[in-house]
Amino acid sequence: MAPQVPAIPSQGLQSADRSFFPDLNPLDRFRVAIAEELSRISHIDKSLALSGLDRTTNLDNGDLVLVVPRLRMKGVAPAELAKKIVAEFESHEGAKVKAPIADGISIKFFFTPTELTSTLVPLILQQQEAYGFNPNLGLRDPLNPDSGQKTVIVEFSSPNIAKKFHAGHLRSTIIGGFLSNLYERSGYKVVRMNYLGDWGRQYGLLACGWKRYGDEDAFAKDPIGHLFDIYVKISADFQPEEDEFKAAGKRGEDTSELESRGLLGEAKAYFKRMEDGDEEALQLWRRFRDLSIERYNETYARLNIRFTDYSGESQVKQETMKKAEEILRERGVLESDEGASIVDFKKHGAKKLGVAVVRNRNGTSNYLLRDVGAAIQREDTYHFDELLYVVMSEQETHLNRLFKILDLMGEGYATLSKRMKHITFGKVMGMSTRKGNVKFLDDILADVGDFMHDVMRRNETKYSQVEDPTRTAELLGLSAIMVQDMSGKRINNYEFSLERMTSFEGDTGPYLQYAHARLSSIFRKVDITRDEMLGADFSLLAQSPHAISMLRAMARFPDMVHQAQKTLEPTTILMYLFKLTHELSSSYDHLRVVNPPEGRAVSIARAALYQAARQVLHNGMVLLGLRPLDRM
Ligand code: ARG
Repeated sequence: MAPQVPAIPSQGLQSADRSFFPDLNPLDRFRVAIAEELSRISHIDKSLALSGLDRTTNLDNGDLVLVVPRLRMKGVAPAELAKKIVAEFESHEGAKVKAPIADGISIKFFFTPTELTSTLVPLILQQQEAYGFNPNLGLRDPLNPDSGQKTVIVEFSSPNIAKKFHAGHLRSTIIGGFLSNLYERSGYKVVRMNYLGDWGRQYGLLACGWKRYGDEDAFAKDPIGHLFDIYVKISADFQPEEDEFKAAGKRGEDTSELESRGLLGEAKAYFKRMEDGDEEALQLWRRFRDLSIERYNETYARLNIRFTDYSGESQVKQETMKKAEEILRERGVLESDEGASIVDFKKHGAKKLGVAVVRNRNGTSNYLLRDVGAAIQREDTYHFDELLYVVMSEQETHLNRLFKILDLMGEGYATLSKRMKHITFGKVMGMSTRKGNVKFLDDILADVGDFMHDVMRRNETKYSQVEDPTRTAELLGLSAIMVQDMSGKRINNYEFSLERMTSFEGDTGPYLQYAHARLSSIFRKVDITRDEMLGADFSLLAQSPHAISMLRAMARFPDMVHQAQKTLEPTTILMYLFKLTHELSSSYDHLRVVNPPEGRAVSIARAALYQAARQVLHNGMVLLGLRPLDRM
């Protein structure tokens, strides 16, 4: 995705609750035209009319609908007012708006075909990659280009070094990538942050494991894999001790003796050395971290994901955490409990959050305290306007504890939590490769790619025409995984199904790619230049209901992007794209581009229409993080 969006000179308009950009958004242009006519009739408040004009969910109900009570006109029954407006509304051949239709207390508005054909295709062909996006939204004041960009931190992916890259990390990566793109295209300054799990007692345990099982050659070849193997082995060694420790805890016995010997004692002591800044202990850990990041980056690149900040739990400074603890202690929030520091949320109006340890008995920090420190450091570094935590729903309590602690710190810190948001998501059931369980992202990507390759081979003739089948299969596989993930609302759980996601039928990634490739193929079959398309006689499209349906769908793309900025749901965009592709596939038989009987002028106008449709599909796919294929 192009990081810099050329700012489009645009004049915005403000109503009470949002701004409108008629130059960028065809529905806004339509809203303004309707609002003007409404204010002529009955002296309706223009700004109320503007914000009352909603996009319909179903195009049969119009392009925009106005629920009359939104106009807040006193002393007249809404249904009466609807009738009056419809009766007085002026529309004619060349107008933007067709004669509206009253439906109870609502009024339905439809674009005139001429409005759509004369403005939309040229707009899209001119704006190209910028169509749909409004770089003003990320300004402090969307109507004032000098007001400065807002900064958003999107924290996502955040796997744990030496541990499995599980479905939760995959979902976070996909959703976080989309959100970063979305904010970037809306004109925000975006910090793409990976908050690695690279600290904690388990890295003490990993160091013990390295002593027993570490192998330099194996590490150099496959750092992530080798560290994982070591971690699995040492965890198994550690298991009996952990069982004993848990049992003693259950019996209510003092476990401090158990904690200080054996592997657990060793791991804790090692981690303590790391926290105390012992250079020798840190050196080993740093090697693990650096090489792991290098390998992660290769995998992320395959996924079309990049980060601007590789942060991690290890980057939280002791002094930041100490200062936070001081404040919390002064305010009576932090308490001592057998040498550990705890927060009892029940005493602070948050019963559900229970009691949490924030510093362990031997003085080391824990996950929660590190998150408190990380939040404060992010504010100091970036002065962010928004911070999104793209983290699975299992960690909701954890994040709510974090937000609550910041609230309880008072003053500047409480405002911090108001700018933070947990972007939650549900589980993936049964994510595994065909050979067995998944350890790393690479395993899944490779497996789905191979599977996709098999699917492609089933169609021999087509397969023989694909130039680079391996690469194509990989990209199709990625699309399959991502589209499956983004199909439902984030919070829904879903079943990982290779068969379903790789199918070319139904609303899948391969289907979306096919739709794009089919559009691209049109332009390989005809010899029509961009200039010819820009100069086409668009009125030739006005008679075709299929062309009008497509145009109406294409007109709402900018509004959908705006909507996604509110829902923060990839499915908002994805479902829109599927609707558009359905519109497209039913149009091909009616709108031939290659040598139509109607002649060349019609061919050019249709080519322009399909070129615009391809652009919209392309822009939506790129926004989702997909790489549109021109051939497959
Ligand atoms: N590394 C964590 C895990 O895998 C996720 C990190 C979530 N972000 C945070 N700020 N706690 O469970």
